[in-house]
Amino acid sequence: KDKNPKTPSCIRLTPGGWLFPEQFKLFADKIYNFEVKPTDVYIITYMKVGTTWTQEIVWTMKHNPNLDHPEGGEPILDRSPFLDLDMLLPANPPPEMLENMEPFLRKFLELCPGADPRNGVHLQTAMATPEPRVIKTHLPLSLMPPNLLDKAKVVYVVRNPMDVVCSYYHHCRLFNEMKFTGTLDEFCEYFLTDDLIYSPYGLHVKEAWEQRHHPNMHIMLYEDMKADAMKEIKKLDEFLGTRLSEKQLENVVKFTSFEDMKKRDNLVSKEVRESSVFLDHEVLKQDGGFFRKGTTGDGKKRLSPEMQKKMKDWIKKNFDFGINYL
Ligand code: A3P
Repeated sequence: KDKNPKTPSCIRLTPGGWLFPEQFKLFADKIYNFEVKPTDVYIITYMKVGTTWTQEIVWTMKHNPNLDHPEGGEPILDRSPFLDLDMLLPANPPPEMLENMEPFLRKFLELCPGADPRNGVHLQTAMATPEPRVIKTHLPLSLMPPNLLDKAKVVYVVRNPMDVVCSYYHHCRLFNEMKFTGTLDEFCEYFLTDDLIYSPYGLHVKEAWEQRHHPNMHIMLYEDMKADAMKEIKKLDEFLGTRLSEKQLENVVKFTSFEDMKKRDNLVSKEVRESSVFLDHEVLKQDGGFFRKGTTGDGKKRLSPEMQKKMKDWIKKNFDFGINYL
């Protein structure tokens, strides 16, 4: 593997369009025809914008507002399935990976006995998850079921591109599938040319932004959540119709604070987290893990002045949504 964070076989759907692992072809139709239920909430995001945070907030509001499960229960990805994760995993896992897959398949084996994993472990897990479901996807709105917004609620999160690129860089260092070894500035070049999976970020946001007045669409900014989590969670409470009490809202804020989520560190099970099949443990120690820093302004501090200039030009051109990230 070289420094290129793209998996070896990526496809660009249309010129200038979405970049995905080639395996997207196996799942595109199944996802487009996914059965949407009226009780569903979809967390739709580009990479590294605070998806997991939002999943934990929405899931806790709907399932655990009294903190009856003090540790949140199962790993986040078992409670809140990741619809398109199958396309990010190798189609033919090497034997050493297969041995370590079982903890990752636990929910699938529990919810889908007898199902064929080749039809999508995570997709089928999402199908079988009991209502009300909180489903994560990084796919853009246009590749989701066409009736999505008319049937279910969507929460879309946006984050400053400079911080996104910084966080994405650490993600690609951490996960063995990507194994990026270059510098942050080198990584940014891939972002600027939309050569990172789920890009273009500008188009991803634009599609959601165009639907911002739809009653089933709720857009949140990572920066607003950091500035005043209670205020944003109250807006979510209204949007989701969860009608939480003041005490329950306080529970959600505390339970989903960066400090508490980092302490629990339960995106995936302990076995998956500790296995070196998925994560590079050296990088994990150096960079700080999946719940890495959880701040705003990291990008501005760490990109070189030349790269900041390029990023600002990119933002002016691609991020004209009335959100001021300059
Ligand atoms: P950093 O790498 O900047 O720390 P995603 O879930 O979309 O992959 O986003 C990951 C980013 O969200 C990481 O950013 C991570 O630290 C941050 N994050 C996760 N939980 C958070 C929380 N409770 N509060 C604030 N940021 C959080």
